[in-house]
Amino acid sequence: MPKTIDLTGKTCVIFGVANQRSIAYAIAQQVAAAGAQMAFSYQNERLKEHVEKAVAPLGSSLLVECDAIDEAQVENVYRRVGEKYGRVDMIVHSIAYAQHDDLGGAFSKTSLQGFRTALEVSAYTLVPVVSKAVPLMGEHGGSVVTLTFDAAGRVYPGYNIMGTAKSALENIVRQLAAEFGPKKVRVNAVSAGPLPTLAARSIPGFNEMRSAYETRSAMKRNVNHEEVANASLFLLSDLASGITGAVIPVDAGYSIMGL
Ligand SMILES: NC(=O)c1ccc[n+]([C@@H]2O[C@H](COP(=O)([O-])OP(=O)(O)OC[C@H]3O[C@@H](n4cnc5c(N)ncnc54)[C@H](O)[C@@H]3O)[C@@H](O)[C@H]2O)c1
Repeated sequence: MPKTIDLTGKTCVIFGVANQRSIAYAIAQQVAAAGAQMAFSYQNERLKEHVEKAVAPLGSSLLVECDAIDEAQVENVYRRVGEKYGRVDMIVHSIAYAQHDDLGGAFSKTSLQGFRTALEVSAYTLVPVVSKAVPLMGEHGGSVVTLTFDAAGRVYPGYNIMGTAKSALENIVRQLAAEFGPKKVRVNAVSAGPLPTLAARSIPGFNEMRSAYETRSAMKRNVNHEEVANASLFLLSDLASGITGAVIPVDAGYSIMGL
């Protein structure tokens, strides 16, 4: 296939690889194949080895520990990226977390602490991840992609507080897109259909979601990692230079159906 996206000389920072099934990993494969220099953050020491092993086939890259709720650690990622590559052009934010007790069961039982945790990790972290990178983007600007889910706008029983978090995340995408648009920084979200990953395994009803997509989506099937990564690559690249603040569904047309 002819290479239509060339990211040679550009730097991409990826937050959210846990293993080779992570959506962030599928995106990283595409971005690295398009020629970009890569930097990865891993959440904590426990994940370091898995992430190191997962990203090794993608060639030489920078790895930095970062719990994204700690702004100093986010700053440290960009300091290290600045030292090694001197610039940031693309960012992938593929981070989410909710406490086990707040997934499944009655939504009204969500605790305040559970609300704070889910919203802080899954939505708020996009704010420092973008704003602290802007100085390194310089005059050329940059492009950011985050991952959301249809539950931002509709109820998926079991997904509970994560739906609230995705709603907030999509709003944050628009707020950041508006604020940093004049600096040529674009911020978009890909709304992916359900994919089997580590995070997805903790969602009660995940298998029902997969079967609903298979029977009720316009295309009568689920999407795969590569399709979500392809759309993300497009948004990260200059081919999407006129798109910002958007939520692009990669869901085989599930969200357009009424029945
Ligand atoms: N898998 C799906 O069906 C699906 C569908 C739509 C959207 N998404 C979204 O895609 C994103 C990636 O999830 P995934 O499915 O690839 O699962 P995953 O488990 O592979 O990735 C989740 C990542 O979040 C990271 N993370 C959690 N808390 C963090 C913190 N405090 N600091 C830094 N990193 C933290 C984890 O380390 C992990 O790498 C999430 O935002 C998820 O909601 C997933």
